[in-house]
Order: sequence, then structure tokens, then C-alpha cells
Amino acid sequence: MTPGPVETLGGRHAQQGEVVGLRASAPLTATELAAVRADFPLLNRTVRGDRPLVYLDSAATSQKPDVVIDAELDFYTRHNAAVHRGAHQLAEEATSAFEQAREEVASFVGAAPDEIVWTSNATAAINLVAYAIGNASLGRGGAAARRFALVAGDEIVVTEAEHHANLVPWQELCARTGATLRWIGVEDDGRLRLEELATVVGERTKLIAVSHASNVTGAVTDVARVVARAREVGALVVLDACQSVPHLPVDLHGLGVDFAALSGHKMLGPTGVGALYGRRELLEAMPPVTTGGSMVEVVTMEATSYAAPPQRFEAGSQMVAQAVGMGAAARYLAELGMAAVAEHEAVIAAALLEAVAAVPGVRVIGPSDTRDRLAVVSFVVDGVHPHDVGQVLDDQGIAVRVGHHCAQPLHRRLGVPSSTRASASVYTTLDEVAAFGAALTTVRPFFGLGGQQ
Ligand SMILES: Cc1ncc(COP(=O)(O)O)c(C=O)c1O
Repeated sequence: MTPGPVETLGGRHAQQGEVVGLRASAPLTATELAAVRADFPLLNRTVRGDRPLVYLDSAATSQKPDVVIDAELDFYTRHNAAVHRGAHQLAEEATSAFEQAREEVASFVGAAPDEIVWTSNATAAINLVAYAIGNASLGRGGAAARRFALVAGDEIVVTEAEHHANLVPWQELCARTGATLRWIGVEDDGRLRLEELATVVGERTKLIAVSHASNVTGAVTDVARVVARAREVGALVVLDACQSVPHLPVDLHGLGVDFAALSGHKMLGPTGVGALYGRRELLEAMPPVTTGGSMVEVVTMEATSYAAPPQRFEAGSQMVAQAVGMGAAARYLAELGMAAVAEHEAVIAAALLEAVAAVPGVRVIGPSDTRDRLAVVSFVVDGVHPHDVGQVLDDQGIAVRVGHHCAQPLHRRLGVPSSTRASASVYTTLDEVAAFGAALTTVRPFFGLGGQQ
């Protein structure tokens, strides 16, 4: 695919394939950013007539670089076959591409390949853990799985800031097992009240599920503190790493969490694929959830023995091309260098916050400082419904997300039913933030309210 020239931060034009030396620990230069943008064909299109697209909805789903699109295309064009079956060359090639992608994702997040289970998305990864624990609570999985079993009176701890994907599955698990759901509260600026770990987490806590970074406020969680408290009481930690992995260096072994959920489509990869990370000894002890073909060892009419992980959790035909695409995305980000990505996005986060703060009648929900936060900025515009905000911005080519962002309890806690969210990725430029800021100044005046500077 050959995208056309791309307007860039530095005002120059870059062509696809331009070789740049991306550094490991400094914000991207204008030249480097131009080369990154040239990798993303969609960013070159216009919307609403001839307006350049300003894509600030990367927390919902990221755009895809050519290497990801090409990896899927190449798989279907040259290697497509069912994996882990078949004795022919294509089956071998497909299996090797699928397993290599697993290695790439594993190495990207500091895990071993057999600790990565392919899932259809991050939601499915979290549900996999919840349903496996539910099965263990029913006695499935034998003695090895007993460590996961919940009984009435046990407790699961979440936070009030969770995406519904990391809340509802735990509510359901509690309903099925008689366990009780408890939660850590949030401050007025959306940061977690982690001091509550001392009181909310106790001897009955069997699992703590927390997001690494909020998809609403951008606040980053001090995971080490959560893990330390969990270890004191022998609880498992499930990390929702959807929003952190595309934007920060993440080392799951270093963090010491037990499980983590990853989302392919948020980390420059395809839709329809995600991954569950599980510590090897836990995956080995965990009973399966979805059963059928490809996850078994011996099947008789009476009983079935199950394959070792990760295959035990990958029943049926897998999303092979998407997994290959997710592997390509992990490699792309690793080659950019996550330290450089994080530093670039820290600059964008500061600019987004400044742009929102500069507009009268607009208020950030979430931390207003740049400490431990991502370039995800949600805000409310006094007197204007977020859907109307989104429409006025969209008319000017600016794509943002509006609504509750699958986090109703957090919005309730922060005293607003919904919000508008601008979220960035490695390809976001300061020029785009400036365009967003300028468009935001027009929203209240558009509805006859004061506010134009
Ligand atoms: C924090 C967080 N967790 C989980 C999810 C669900 O991810 P997926 O779409 O991969 O299921 C999202 C998606 O918006 C998210 O932002």
C-alpha cells in the first residue's frame, strides 16, 4: 500500500518506507513522527468533504500501520491454512506464523510465549479468567484448580474506575459463586484511592481486578502497590492492560501480576484478536472454559483430557490472520521503542490538557496534571451534550468519542452522565491538538452560549 504525502508536525512530507533512526528514550522528532504517520494510510484521508482527518479516538480503536495490514494480506495471499492440524506445507507455514506472532506479543509485554492465550478481544480475555474461576468453583479442573475456587463470603475487589469489561464479568462471577464484590473508590479527579487497599482488601479477598490505565481519565495505576497488597493476603491480580500496552513500556513479569488482558485493535493491531496473559503455573492449573476441538489430548465417549496451555484455552479454529497482524503490531511498536512512544504521547497529553483548559466553559474530568497519565483527556462542555460536542467537532474533521465510554460507575462518581473524550496514539501530532483546541472554542458559541475567546 502506498499512501500519499502526509502533512506532518514539521510541515514536511514523508514517504512510506523512509528510513528513520527512532530513538529509544526521547520524544519523536518531527522527522520521525512524519515517518510514523506515513505508515498509517488512513490518516491521509479527508472527512466531511475535504477536511483533513484529525483522529483523536485511539482509546476506542487505533489506526493500523501498513505492516499490520500487509501482514494480514500476506497471510491470506500466501500462507492461509488451518493451524496445528494438517501435514502439508501451508499448514506448517500458517502454524509457524501464528506461533511467531505469539512470541512477538509475549516478548513485547515481558512474558513467555506459552503464557499468551489468543482471545477475540480483551473482554474475552477477562471473561476467560472469570469463567475458569467459576468452573473451578464448581469443582472442575480437579485438585490443581482448587486454588481458584470461590465460596460464599470470599471477596473480589475491583475499582470504581473500571471499564465495564473489567467489572461486569466479576459481578457475574460473584452472582454465580456467592462471592462478594468490593471496590476501591476514586478521588474527585478520577485517580484511584489506593490507600483503601489497606481496608477494602483483606483475608477474604481472592482476586483484585484493576486497569493499568483508565480509558476515561488516562490516569495510570500504581500496579506495584496493588500487587504488594495482593501478595500480603494471597490474592490474585488481574490487570486490564488494554490502555497501557499501546502507550507505555509494559513488563508483565516485572509487574508481577497473575493475569493481564490485551487488546489487539487498541495497539495498532487488527480487530477480532486480543490476548490473555497468565502466569504459567496458573494457566497450567486452570480449567478450560470453551471446550471442543483443538484443546484436547484424549477424547473418549466417557471423558476428555485437556491439552496443556495455551492450547487448552484456544478451542476451535483460531483468528490466525488477526493474530499474525497483532504480532506485526507488537513488532512495529517494539521497533519504535516504547520509551520513545511514551515520551511523545506525554508531550501530546500536556498539549491536550492545555487545549481543553484554554476554552472557557470546558472542564476536564480526570487529572488535570501530566503526572502518571496518558494522552486520554475526557471533558464536559457546560450546557452542551457530549453528542452535540462530538458533532460540532466532527463537522471540522475532528473524531472524538462521546458517551460514558463503557464506564458508567466512574461517570456517576464524577457527577456527570457522559463526557467527550480526546485520545491520542503514537501518530498524533501537536498540529492536530491545535486543530482540536481551535474547534473546541467554537462549540459553546455554536449553541449560542458564551465562551469564544
Ligand atoms: C480499559 C479497557 N478495558 C477493556 C476494554 C475492552 O477491550 P476490547 O475491545 O478489546 O474487548 C476497553 C475498550 O474500550 C478498555 O478501554
